[in-house]
Amino acid sequence: MTEHTQIGIIGAGPAGLLLSQVLHLQGIDSIVVERRSPEYVLGRVRAGALEPGMVKFLRAAGIGERLDREGHPHKGIAIAFEDKRFRIDMEELTGGGYLTIYGQTKITEDLMTARAERGGNLVYEIGDTSIHDLDADRPSIRYSKDDEEHEIRCDFIAGCDGFHGISRPTIPGDVLKTFDRKYPYHWIALLTESRPVSEELIYVHHERGFVLCSMRSPTQSRYGIQCGTEDTVDDWSEDRIWSEISARLSPDLADSLDTGACLDKSIVPKRSFVAEPMQYQRLFLAGDAAHIVPPTGAKGLNLAGSDVYYLSRAFIEYYGTGRTDLLGAYGATALDRVWKAEWFSGWMTELLHANPNHGPYDRRAQIAQLRLLSQSRAAQTALAQSYVGVPY
Ligand code: APR
Ligand code: PHB
Repeated sequence: MTEHTQIGIIGAGPAGLLLSQVLHLQGIDSIVVERRSPEYVLGRVRAGALEPGMVKFLRAAGIGERLDREGHPHKGIAIAFEDKRFRIDMEELTGGGYLTIYGQTKITEDLMTARAERGGNLVYEIGDTSIHDLDADRPSIRYSKDDEEHEIRCDFIAGCDGFHGISRPTIPGDVLKTFDRKYPYHWIALLTESRPVSEELIYVHHERGFVLCSMRSPTQSRYGIQCGTEDTVDDWSEDRIWSEISARLSPDLADSLDTGACLDKSIVPKRSFVAEPMQYQRLFLAGDAAHIVPPTGAKGLNLAGSDVYYLSRAFIEYYGTGRTDLLGAYGATALDRVWKAEWFSGWMTELLHANPNHGPYDRRAQIAQLRLLSQSRAAQTALAQSYVGVPY
């Protein structure tokens, strides 16, 4: 069976759903195909720290109501090292910018609801996805569902199918360039039923390894604990988790640490990855399909947002005025912001993690960098500007 639409979107993660919603509000049709079930997509905990640009974009996409009601504004963060802790006042140093804590799970839910309320065409639990005729006026996506073959003919295809999707590998090998960096440590990422250890996020550098102390609500905490690259979730019992967090926190924080049940536990590999170009003929990549950042800088979800902002703007101009220049420049425009976030996320990661390959000199130099940051308004301002994000 063949269906026709304007934009065929592969992947119903934050990027695909947000693109479909924003285009719908401008009268542009799309069909979203997703290999997993809605429950599976919703069940992924992942990110939750939103740049002001992302918050503004989500409001413009019509899903700001619950975000404004339940989102937690975070005007500053704390960085801890050698039992010292200092605060970086994001709002003051950036002239008003700050992050909002609002879980990706809620964003995905809000987008799913918004698409359902507006008759969005989303197809879940598909298989055998493939892309065809990208050099033709009407390329197509083929997939199977319930033992039937389906085809979507469209003007353009948006590859929002994440790092393990089929879109990026569809770009010929002699065209696609990839830039990759792996780190000698991963994270155990946790969602726990426990009171956050602090009102604001704390990034802890410790010789035993990094800890991120974040939250999702006054009763739910989100932790990222540096672990080995060979570790599995089974290696990290709840006892080990809480004793390790406690060992890496300063005594005052460790004393007030509230422990609770683990609601979600996963290994998050630390990787920096960029694919170029982010477009090929009538295929456009957005989000994790084109780039991965280590989560230390809270950039992954926000980059998926800015990609969708640039891509939707290009489609809207194309259908509204016939302009093709924004479409032609999409990749270059998105990559400028992507590489700045890649650099920042890599820098934050290496600044704050205990690198097993570091010798005594590197460890001393790392502490000196943290001391400099704790004493330099200029260094804190530079961090704050990248943390709240480069304007779209
Ligand atoms: N066919 C259909 N769907 C697919 C296929 C395929 N062949 N391959 C993958 N998908 C789906 C996945 O099941 C997933 O739901 O594409 C979706 C991609 O979603 P994400 O991985 O969440 O990627 P994206 O939307 O780009 O969001 C990325 O959100 O999760 C945070 O930190 C993460 O930064 C990241 C951002
Ligand atoms: C999160 O709460 O998920 C989070 C916050 C800040 C980060 C990374 C993740 O740097």
